[in-house]
Amino acid sequence: MSITVDPEWWKSTFDEIYLITDARSVCDDEITRREIDLVCELLPMNHRDRILDLCGGHGRHSMELYRRGFTRCTLFDYSKPLIERARKEAARCSYDIECIRGDARSIGLLSETFDHVLIMGNSLGYIPEHAADAQILAEAMRILCPGGWLLIDVADGAAVKDSFHPRSWHEIGADVVVCRERKLEGNIVSTREIVLSKEKGMIRNSSYSLHLYDPQTLSQLVNRTGFGKVKVHTGFFPHQRTGDYGFMNHRMLATGQKP
Ligand SMILES: C[S@@+](CC[C@H](N)C(=O)[O-])C[C@H]1O[C@@H](n2cnc3c(N)ncnc32)[C@H](O)[C@@H]1O
Repeated sequence: MSITVDPEWWKSTFDEIYLITDARSVCDDEITRREIDLVCELLPMNHRDRILDLCGGHGRHSMELYRRGFTRCTLFDYSKPLIERARKEAARCSYDIECIRGDARSIGLLSETFDHVLIMGNSLGYIPEHAADAQILAEAMRILCPGGWLLIDVADGAAVKDSFHPRSWHEIGADVVVCRERKLEGNIVSTREIVLSKEKGMIRNSSYSLHLYDPQTLSQLVNRTGFGKVKVHTGFFPHQRTGDYGFMNHRMLATGQKP
């Protein structure tokens, strides 16, 4: 079985259908609260701190931080539908969160303007060019103030490999079935995803791939960018039920401080 992946898949996949297929992880308020509880435990967060939610999708972490009194959040993501949705939701809730669309490899914001950069919910490893994630971290380093903190929350590749399932399917509500076929080659996992709506028929037939990090390679990446006090915290399982959550239930968090 071979899975052919368009190298630019990440530019078009994160849309309204992704919010359905990944709803169990990214549209569950309890899970988002658990993730932000952990961020607040791991980082020295102050309510006046400026926080960048980088590759932040539809802004669930920015909004949860805002509700907790961290009102200086900026959301940054490439996906137009997700950024538009975040803007609408922020306006509906009267949250003053700036939502910016762009490529994290070249953020375009002023240097040394944030106290924390968060890269949450498994948002690295999508771009096949070897240096892409290093470029994203170099940008995080540039826009952080000296002493500022980076936090990365990604799938723990070692745990993913240990419990690798080549096939999975799950239902979302009464209408949607998500079927995934996966192939693991070294540190790259490729997935073909077919999404069926009982009402509308096939609503997605696409493939994507992800570079997996293990605790050691993630730590090396953060260290190489120049961050100090680097730590990787493993064993984060935000889902309390067992199931195949497409890598979202085997997570690790790396933290590092800009000198
Ligand atoms: C799995 S989603 C997670 C979103 C969000 N962090 C969350 O936890 O809900 C990954 C996100 O990373 C974004 N992304 C991936 N590569 C990016 C890049 N180079 N620049 C900006 N956003 C990117 C995608 O658009 C997508 O919204």
